[in-house]
Amino acid sequence: MKPVIPIDKSEILKRYKPIYAKTHKGIQGHALIIGGSYGKIGAVTLSSRACLKTGCGLVTVFIPRCGYKIVQSAYPEVMVLTDISVKYITRIVFDFVPQAIGIGPGIGQDIETHTALHRFVKTNEIPLVIDADALNILSQNKQWMSFLPEKTILTPHQKELERLIGKWDSDAEKIEKTIAFSKQNNLVIVMKGAPTKIFDGDTIYENTTGNAALATAGTGDVLTGMITSLLAQSYEPIDAAIIGVYLHGLTADIALPETGYQAFLASDSIDHIGKAYLSLG
Ligand code: APR
Ligand code: MG
Repeated sequence: MKPVIPIDKSEILKRYKPIYAKTHKGIQGHALIIGGSYGKIGAVTLSSRACLKTGCGLVTVFIPRCGYKIVQSAYPEVMVLTDISVKYITRIVFDFVPQAIGIGPGIGQDIETHTALHRFVKTNEIPLVIDADALNILSQNKQWMSFLPEKTILTPHQKELERLIGKWDSDAEKIEKTIAFSKQNNLVIVMKGAPTKIFDGDTIYENTTGNAALATAGTGDVLTGMITSLLAQSYEPIDAAIIGVYLHGLTADIALPETGYQAFLASDSIDHIGKAYLSLG
């Protein structure tokens, strides 16, 4: 097997493109985050803010109607489109062309959401990040995998990964199965954990940032927003995944002396994205 490549500052600097002085929000990319359901609007709220803070020019969310006031009041910078349904996503429609889409945070598994996701993946050609319950729905419908754009980024935690690739008996078997899955479906797999590993076929990267403070609700939703933002800024999927995972871990490393492990929240991760970027020089 090929050696594992550490995701450290030197690896990031090979891929990171500083902001061009004369850029404008149109050039910085428009991202769409699809997710949320009754009681889980917070997930898409966190994800959309993380997405904007990572540098794309515009962020729109597509959510069920119950989330409209919540997102608009929380973050005036985020634009909101709503489903016809109050509680769940039932039919995904939008009237613009985003540069990247992140789908899954808080989306839930209502039967109508399965149908909406099926319709969406059959026609979508826009670069995509899939997380949370959108991954779980995909796991129950593996035949949809062939519809995904090349190098779609999946961001499973260990349980979500198991649903995608099946059980494993050892770490070595888990890695073999993830490589096979990534190759077979031409996907970038962000295997979240401590540490997070990224699979691009049989090339494996391992993150060097992050700490146990991240073991708290919503940090995965923040990561989805960050990677979607980088994808919207025209980074290649593998670069978006690598830079996103590295910066996300770094937010927790920078915040730790202020918050300690226990008081760190997913929102603290978002609040430290700026300092994480600044540390790149
Ligand atoms: N050290 C370093 N990083 C960690 C650690 C740790 N000890 N623990 C967690 N992390 C990081 C992971 O690498 C990942 O980036 O925190 C993030 C956690 O992501 P998720 O597991 O997706 O957690 P969360 O955002 O809370 O998602 C919860 O997932 O299981 C579903 O339905 C569930 O909606 C819920 C959602
Ligand atoms: Mg998650």
